[in-house]
Amino acid sequence: MQTLTITRPDDWHLHLRDGDAMKSVLPDTASRFARAIVMPNLKPPVTTVALAAAYRQRILSALPAGASFQPLMTLYLTDNTPAAEIDAAQSSGFVHGVKLYPAGATTNSDAGVTGLAKCDATLARMEKLGLPLLVHGEATDPAVDVFDREAVFIDTVMLPLLKKFPGLRVVFEHITTKDAADFVIGATSNVAATITAHHLLLNRNAMFQGGMRPHHYCLPVLKRETHRQALVKAATSGNPKFFLGTDSAPHGKRTKEAACGCAGCYTAHAGIELYAEAFDASSALDKLEGFASFHGPDFYRLARNTDRITLIRKAWQVPTEQAFLADDVLVPLRNGENIAWSLQE
Ligand code: NCD
Ligand code: ZN
Repeated sequence: MQTLTITRPDDWHLHLRDGDAMKSVLPDTASRFARAIVMPNLKPPVTTVALAAAYRQRILSALPAGASFQPLMTLYLTDNTPAAEIDAAQSSGFVHGVKLYPAGATTNSDAGVTGLAKCDATLARMEKLGLPLLVHGEATDPAVDVFDREAVFIDTVMLPLLKKFPGLRVVFEHITTKDAADFVIGATSNVAATITAHHLLLNRNAMFQGGMRPHHYCLPVLKRETHRQALVKAATSGNPKFFLGTDSAPHGKRTKEAACGCAGCYTAHAGIELYAEAFDASSALDKLEGFASFHGPDFYRLARNTDRITLIRKAWQVPTEQAFLADDVLVPLRNGENIAWSLQE
């Protein structure tokens, strides 16, 4: 197969940032995806419907002329998010989920939840109204090995959470382990997961290939090959619980190539092409449309897109860097190297 035409995909986990940074990355997503679930980890975080409405307007205003991209907004859950904010979110029509960042787990998560018990009333409201909880699933106890944080989170947070709120609609975001894939497969139908392209394509060796590779450092961190294989199996299985979420997370080159570099891989420049490559490598291109274009909207109870995109098996070279901020550039994944699939313009 040399070309593949599929229903236009959506990105169910994306960091767009704000201001000039947002303006420079937004066209990459808007030219591929119809919609994206936009993460709320700004500084300060998007904790209310009013802040989400303002952020949504800034995104819409920054769109290239003629783009029909739709940002799907999320709220950042804190220890103090009132249950009434959930009612407002649900009736807003533009807030589609509430993000749980365990405090300290990742970039801009300091305002995150310090103890889920503090959120009981709010979570109960979400369960009742059917508003999904989007979970960054990593244990934050510094004593837990960084490669074990997702598996430990399942036992210490996810299982008790679903025991208390069995009807809560949960997206286990950017899963990285066989443990998480197996957990989602075995869970009830209200539990789903997103998987990034980089976790399908790379294992943890990629962070240390010939030296430290800061552009392969993200959270949750890349895992060993057995986990990558389990993720590929889940993504290409046709199971509607798994769908596309790039977790494209832009950081300036200087903040990545530093003594304490930021976590995040920028992948929006090839947001669907990298997945085509991963599915092709498993001879599963026939499963890409379900994963990229159907399972997400079905879970979020939104209509599927109706227009289509065409991918071509034609290699292109990724630029070594791209514009980001006035004083810093962005280093996209695969910089200076080829990607096997292109998007037909
Ligand atoms: C994300 C970011 O930079 O905002 N970083 C990352 O490595 N994925 C935060 C996140 O999703 O954990
Ligand atoms: Zn993310």
